[in-house]
Amino acid sequence: MRDAFFKYQAQTTPHPLGLEIARAEGCLIIDKDAREHLDLVAGVSACSLGHCHPEVVAAVQEQAATYMHVMVYGETIQKPAVKYAEELCSKLPQELQCLYLVNSGTEAMEAAIKLARRATGRTEIFAAKNAYHGSTLGSLSLMGYEARKGAFRPLLPDVRFLHFNQEKEISKITTHTAAVILETIQGGAGFILPQNDYLKKVRERCDEVGALLVLDEIQPGFGRCGTLFAFEQFNCTPDLLVIGKGMASGMPIGGLLSSFELMKTLQSEPKLGHITTFGGNAVIAAAARATLKALYSENHLEGSLEKEALFRIQLKHPLIKEIRGRGLMLALLFERAEIANFLVLEGIKRRIILFWLLFEPCAVRLTPPLVISKHQITHACQQIVDILDSFEQLGVD
Ligand SMILES: Cc1ncc(COP(=O)(O)O)c(C=O)c1O
Repeated sequence: MRDAFFKYQAQTTPHPLGLEIARAEGCLIIDKDAREHLDLVAGVSACSLGHCHPEVVAAVQEQAATYMHVMVYGETIQKPAVKYAEELCSKLPQELQCLYLVNSGTEAMEAAIKLARRATGRTEIFAAKNAYHGSTLGSLSLMGYEARKGAFRPLLPDVRFLHFNQEKEISKITTHTAAVILETIQGGAGFILPQNDYLKKVRERCDEVGALLVLDEIQPGFGRCGTLFAFEQFNCTPDLLVIGKGMASGMPIGGLLSSFELMKTLQSEPKLGHITTFGGNAVIAAAARATLKALYSENHLEGSLEKEALFRIQLKHPLIKEIRGRGLMLALLFERAEIANFLVLEGIKRRIILFWLLFEPCAVRLTPPLVISKHQITHACQQIVDILDSFEQLGVD
């Protein structure tokens, strides 16, 4: 398998983790030699309820045996998607009562860009330095990290950048601006929280100039940060909310929420303003319904904050400069990238799966499934502290 993986499957880096997976359950990934690995990454925040949560599996199996795909998005009434939209909207404010289900986070962001341009008749978009919103051309245009996007120019015109949390730059948003697109908590940049009511101030400026505020909660959403969506904690409701990753516990999905009025923009002049074959797919929507239900019935929203506290208490080490983030979206920050690299690579040897952040080389992500147990947290923390001790002892440089 390993040879075929490198020979036939497209690679995104010269050095993939390359763990050969046999199965996965809860917070454990079991490799081909039946060894258990503790998953502290959750498929990069996607497996919110862990692997193969019984209720998600049952919902998928039942729906797969009923119908899977019958028609492109929006033409027929399919219970899983309709009920999911209703159930999700019941947890959201009045500004966000209409859901467009798509296939991935980046596709939801593409739809948001299109909707913002159409609704305002403007083209200028502000995004943030070091932001990540996806890898397709529109989303890539919003990536505030030149080294990873320069090679793909020309990209979308009229995209400009703000430094996240820099209040004095908010005045750059003007009546020419269609939308300001921000991650509620910056992910790839290093799990950076908004400070001093930053999002609220951006919201106010958008209202002043008639621009739309788009928040990307693809990573912090679905309970990972202690509330269903992180924006609930920052006094700010967006016009458009972009979601994905954890919403279906590991099944491919994305979504765009706005008011019904705003979303209507996509259905006329021209009609079919955004279309998708598989968006709202019945099997995936069934997984999303089961995920939403279990997030509440198993108390994962409060659980994320309690578990954050356990990580913070047990992760004391002189090499850890800072623990950033909220809930189970945490990043360990080190003085040097070598320490982060050592921790991830040594973790693999000890069968705890950790991973890097996109643009912050001195950080290691801790984004386990929300179902991680206290015992597993203690084990993870002991291993991490132990690895950092061994880094010091080896004098690795
Ligand atoms: C904040 C954020 N936005 C957008 C995306 C893109 O989502 P997807 O990979 O599902 O296209 C990601 C994925 O890592 C993300 O973290």
